[in-house]
Amino acid sequence: MLAGKRILLIVGGGIAAYKALELVRLLKKAGATVSPVLTRAGGEFVTPLSLTALAGEKLHQDLFDLGDEAEMGHIQLSRAADLVVVAPATADLMAKMASGRADDLASTLLLATDKRVLLAPAMNVRMWTHPATQRNLATLRGDGVLTVGPDEGEMACGEYGPGRMAEPGAIFAAIEAALGGGPLAGRHVLVTSGPTHEPIDPVRYIANRSSGAQGTALAAALRDLGARVTFVTGPAVVPAPAGVAVVRVETAAEMLAAVLATLPADAAVMAAAVADWRVANTAGQKMKKDGSGRAPALEFAENPDILATVAKGAPRPRLVVGFAAETTDVLAHAKAKRLRKGCDWMVANDVSPGTGIMGGTENAVTLITEAGAETWPRMTKDAVARQLAARIAEALA
Ligand SMILES: Cc1cc2nc3c(=O)[nH]c(=O)nc-3n(C[C@H](O)[C@H](O)[C@H](O)COP(=O)(O)O)c2cc1C
Repeated sequence: MLAGKRILLIVGGGIAAYKALELVRLLKKAGATVSPVLTRAGGEFVTPLSLTALAGEKLHQDLFDLGDEAEMGHIQLSRAADLVVVAPATADLMAKMASGRADDLASTLLLATDKRVLLAPAMNVRMWTHPATQRNLATLRGDGVLTVGPDEGEMACGEYGPGRMAEPGAIFAAIEAALGGGPLAGRHVLVTSGPTHEPIDPVRYIANRSSGAQGTALAAALRDLGARVTFVTGPAVVPAPAGVAVVRVETAAEMLAAVLATLPADAAVMAAAVADWRVANTAGQKMKKDGSGRAPALEFAENPDILATVAKGAPRPRLVVGFAAETTDVLAHAKAKRLRKGCDWMVANDVSPGTGIMGGTENAVTLITEAGAETWPRMTKDAVARQLAARIAEALA
């Protein structure tokens, strides 16, 4: 699938630059052409000779290379590619990209390109979790930049945590997905995410603590496997991922309408925390204290059951996955819910306050299918998403 594709590979100045050499080898083996670009700092970690010899192509290093400007200028170089890949994407390169700097060949190419850009970030855990880097990441994702990794693990600097560059095989898979390949290519997947807000009056609403982190991670993981993703989201804290079609809703009723408008889909992953009830007697004006000390009496009406409607309706996605956020008897409730709602899989998690799962970055889930229950170890929501997306790809194969 990569045969005949041209990848512009920018290698930044991080220890993980050595892994870029293996990535070049994988891409070449798959028949892609790799145009390597090495930053000045990148040249401190791998030699120009290794990169150009493995790529079998001219290496570009200097913006002010007059020969290059005569033969192939920086604009042309940035446009000739099918995809621009930055591996390793250092904190510095990400900062330059996020602020639109163009003070060397790599940053100028990244600003001038009209092609999709895939970053494989790699840096020390503190650099990665620093608010500045996270701010830059959010900006870049908002600009439609794709990312793969970083992984969590032991780092060259001896610290442990997220920041290690994704392995060359994973970057290769992300490149395939970005170019329209991947096991979910041609599949349409619906993902719901976030909380719903149910109005009480024009200024107040009932909400829940869902941040949208798990649904967002799932949408990104499914996208990375090549799926066309429609992401129907309530007012979440976590920004929606790039590269998916985003439909924003507030209430459960709006979410149901958006979901039905999205079908048909090959799979539906319903990770939204939909309110069970809405206020039936919403006030048209802001409710005021009347001095009597009496609290207003709210009446509730049951919301539509979006999961059951999709699982039992038509056109039914081939695979319907529900989420069960429980605080007691998690497994028993989730198993019963799978049958009651008519969905294929139920992802159960314990969202009791002590678990830190609701609104946190980690999740501990049990996947319930017709075959039984599988409890996965506690891991990041990104890791849960990647594992679940891989299972969905298997099921739709
Ligand atoms: C030994 C060493 C290892 C480094 N590793 C990383 C790294 O993994 N990630 C990173 O963002 N910066 C790393 N840096 C810092 C970058 O090299 C530095 O910010 C540089 O300006 C980045 O240049 P670039 O924009 O060309 O990538 C490292 C520096 C040294 C001296």
